[in-house]
Amino acid sequence: MASSTLLLCTTKTPSSNSLTNLSFFSKPSCLFVHGKRNQEHFKVSCCMGEHNEKMNFDRRDLLLGLGGLYGAANLAPLASASDKLTDEPIPAPSLKTCSTAYIEGNIPVPYSCCPPPLPDGMAMDDVPYYEVPECSQLRVRTAAQVVDQDFIDDYNDAISIMKNLDASDPRSFQQQANIHCAYCNGAYTTVGGKDLQVHFNWLFFPFHRWYLYFYERILGSLIGESTFALPYWNWDNPDGMYFPSMFNQPNTYPDLYDTNRSVNTQNGTFMDLNYVNTEAQTATQSQLLPSGDCSTSGFGTIENMPHTPVHLWTGTNPGTKLSNGNTSYGEDMGNFYSASIDPVFSGHHANVDRMWNIWKSFGGKRVDLTQTDWLESAFFFYDEDCNPWRVKVQDCLDTVKMGYCYAPMATPWVSYKPQKKTTKGKLDPSSVMAAESIFPLSKLDKAISFSIKRPATSRSQQEKDEKEEILKFKGIKHDNKEYLRFDVFLNADKTVNTDELDKIEYAGSYTSLPHAHNASHEFVPRVFNLAITELLEDNKLEDDATIVVTVVPKKGCQVLSIQSVNIELLDC
Ligand code: C2O
Repeated sequence: MASSTLLLCTTKTPSSNSLTNLSFFSKPSCLFVHGKRNQEHFKVSCCMGEHNEKMNFDRRDLLLGLGGLYGAANLAPLASASDKLTDEPIPAPSLKTCSTAYIEGNIPVPYSCCPPPLPDGMAMDDVPYYEVPECSQLRVRTAAQVVDQDFIDDYNDAISIMKNLDASDPRSFQQQANIHCAYCNGAYTTVGGKDLQVHFNWLFFPFHRWYLYFYERILGSLIGESTFALPYWNWDNPDGMYFPSMFNQPNTYPDLYDTNRSVNTQNGTFMDLNYVNTEAQTATQSQLLPSGDCSTSGFGTIENMPHTPVHLWTGTNPGTKLSNGNTSYGEDMGNFYSASIDPVFSGHHANVDRMWNIWKSFGGKRVDLTQTDWLESAFFFYDEDCNPWRVKVQDCLDTVKMGYCYAPMATPWVSYKPQKKTTKGKLDPSSVMAAESIFPLSKLDKAISFSIKRPATSRSQQEKDEKEEILKFKGIKHDNKEYLRFDVFLNADKTVNTDELDKIEYAGSYTSLPHAHNASHEFVPRVFNLAITELLEDNKLEDDATIVVTVVPKKGCQVLSIQSVNIELLDC
């Protein structure tokens, strides 16, 4: 039994959709690591099948998703020693210090996001470290668009039971949603008196993996199904780039439905992975609030794109009225404090989690970090029997060991390369200012181009396999109150149009969802890393000692400052 289930997860199963005529499934690792992709592989115009009528829309959305994932090197939470605030692992948060969480700025969440107290007499240090139990049969997480009716019935029942548990029960729906709020909106304090924050840094993947792990086990135990597995929202595949319909049937599946959503989730709207919320007000300098991030800073592209735009695309528009009469702060998915109140949150994060596995399957330098301060970092959860546990990052690196896997679907983006060039030929680095004379940059209120020196040129394939070239923005500070985004290009003109990002020069985007920090905690600026080895090759810049970088503000960047930028080689 167990082996056949395993097989299901490890066999490459080209999807039955219109993309099967493309040879995406052959050796993605070679394609990426060696940069020898067949440029003819991806012809959107002839493979969109039934979506053809939406061609323009599809193109932009699909390619942006791909753009965000472009250069699979960017999938990982890249971090290097210089990004660290501390060399200590981040310990599981102490429930004792759990206090108010904030919606944004100094607006408190109107209820406590802290977990139920430990059993009588138990101190935080007594909470045991979790050992993943042996399992005989894997839970197989399946794409939301292909699960069957029986599954959806079970899933809705499980959430329904969860919603009916007493609010003080750690397994209850409200308590499960509170976990995300507490870890993301400033309820916990960690090393050095800073806010514990599991976004924007290398805790992003492991925190959300452990979160889903317990959430899934709780749901399974509530319906007595030991192999119950969450569905994943397959937004990296054209067939899954809609709001999954099981979450949108208030009459049939009321417990999977959520009222606080944007109209984007209705009527089979094709997803916009380039989504920028245009109605949210623009922050002004006076809205700048102190904030603090903790732990190791420096986050990978997958968190920026498409993770954050999917949140934003799903949640209500900030400033609009919610059904309860309150003014929206992006609820539910568009603000971290409320994101996991929407049942689709787990489907979204299951796909993010799947990306981590896919990234590792490319092999080569796509391996997990080995720093002890990451491996030993820990979180706190209650399990399906209400037992409290501390869990370590090092124990969540292998999902099969954890007892679950992902049923494969097509991954067209793996071998996709944008074709469109916005720039003719090579820009002359001496025609723009040098990075040293532009940074520190006090505000990103207009597009800037600058020249920047590379630490090495004409690197051999072996050197590239050993070290990834990273374009690193350091000391990014901004308001946390609204969505913001800037886009980065190599060898592109300042006038580059960012409504469509499927361009050969596109390197990636920095994004931030509104979230809050405890105003009394120290502000920690962010680091943003972009892996550019492949991009340099594609733009024929590998032999150039100095290159032109262009940064284009897309949303909310009037209040964003950047301390410095450089290019470095990161050990893989
Ligand atoms: Cu913790 Cu997608 O957010």
